[in-house]
Amino acid sequence: MGFREEIDTHKLPKHVAVIMDGNGRWAKGKGKMRVFGHHNGVLSVRDVVEGAGELGIKYLTLYTFSAENWNRPKYEVTAIMELLISTINKEIKKLMENNVRLNTIGDIDKLPEKCYVELKNAVEKTSANTGLVLTLALSYSSRREITDAAKAIAAKVEKGLIKAEDVDEALFAQHLHTADMPDPELLIRTSGEYRISNFLLWQIAYAELYFTDKLWPDFRREDLFEAILDYQKRERRFGLISEQIN
Ligand code: FPP
Repeated sequence: MGFREEIDTHKLPKHVAVIMDGNGRWAKGKGKMRVFGHHNGVLSVRDVVEGAGELGIKYLTLYTFSAENWNRPKYEVTAIMELLISTINKEIKKLMENNVRLNTIGDIDKLPEKCYVELKNAVEKTSANTGLVLTLALSYSSRREITDAAKAIAAKVEKGLIKAEDVDEALFAQHLHTADMPDPELLIRTSGEYRISNFLLWQIAYAELYFTDKLWPDFRREDLFEAILDYQKRERRFGLISEQIN
């Protein structure tokens, strides 16, 4: 029996977030340029998006390009941006067929103009789709997102729109880029690294963390299913004791 058949579809995480890591090492291991790894990483993205949609996951958030990634060699940054544009162009039809709504978090106005425009168009075009919400984190920094939220709230207090004592977790969460999404229950990171790397720091407060040695271009829907099965075997206590849950 495959992992897929073992999954209890009534107990799916609503939101799965993924730190896609290891493209560069995957390519290097094959004696190729890093960019070759990113190209193959797109095949994993496609397969995992399809798998998540098929299973009935509602939100899938992919750490595609961090704010820190701008400091990579220029040719690599350019290649990733071009890959993003060509992938959106190629996949938009599939996203529509599969009822996927595309969404972004991060400072996307920092992306090259063409990339920004393509993304905006794709987000707009898929905005009425009701299936999987696929969020790409682009030029994303969780600390910046949190700082920006604090700034926006402070400005509202300054203008007298809200009082300082009105600021609670729910109000704070409404000022994050993820305001209209539930928090991820499962965070997956590939490539054998055990770090969060400035990704969804607020939102993963209670997420189950799943680490795999697989490099991202080797990660496929079966691996997603394996991670979900592992998640389903865990007991989520939210600070309570076992007897209070059962
Ligand atoms: C991490 O591997 C991967 C990235 C920083 C880029 C992710 C981009 C893609 C998978 C392709 C584009 C995606 C979409 C959604 C169209 P790494 O380069 O950090 O690998 P390394 O740790 O081995 O160097």
